[in-house]
Amino acid sequence: MFKIGALASGGGTNLQAILDAVELGKINGEVVSVVSNKKDAFALERAKKHNVEAVYMSRKLFKSFDEYEDALISHFKSRNVDLIILAGFMVILSAKFTDAFKNKIMNIHPSLIPSFCGKGFYGLKVHEAVLEKGVKLTGATVHFVDSTADTGPIILQKAVEVKDGDTPEVLQKRVMEEAEWIIFPEAVRLFAEGKIVIDNNIVRRVD
Ligand code: GAR
Repeated sequence: MFKIGALASGGGTNLQAILDAVELGKINGEVVSVVSNKKDAFALERAKKHNVEAVYMSRKLFKSFDEYEDALISHFKSRNVDLIILAGFMVILSAKFTDAFKNKIMNIHPSLIPSFCGKGFYGLKVHEAVLEKGVKLTGATVHFVDSTADTGPIILQKAVEVKDGDTPEVLQKRVMEEAEWIIFPEAVRLFAEGKIVIDNNIVRRVD
């Protein structure tokens, strides 16, 4: 069985989309462990409701970031995960972690990469920047994770309209509903079925 591990920091609606897709049989696999760096992250509750292991592991519990990453690596290695999803995980992982699971980590980002991404662009801040710039189209991107923020090979993207009068919160909700909750489970499904390969940093479909 294809095993999925997850890292999440917040509400976990993207995690929910994956849990639902697994339950509906759309993803041929199982979520085996959800780890959060926030004790009260609702993502942990979502995991428990689906009888998935839910673990609180914060940087604060370790002497250094290095030891924190060591612990995360051994946690997921011991669960034999085939894929780790970053489902709203607000910690930037170093090369140590990304090399330990090379081409096996996927992130969802709430913009059309390479716009509005990289250090400092996360959560609502992305939508605030989009509205400030006045772009008319935004969207979401699923990509593999490498050692720098939001630069890994792009798997799927979906565009979403920016409307007059949008607030960051309204836009965030539309991007989630129209893009994130659709393309993230779809990217996981394709990967679990062996339908994507990385060729020279470019993701290609193999059917
Ligand atoms: C989502 O919009 C996700 O794309 C974003 O945080 C939100 C988490 O929501 N992630 C990033 O900004 C990563 N750079 P969720 O906890 O409800 O899935």
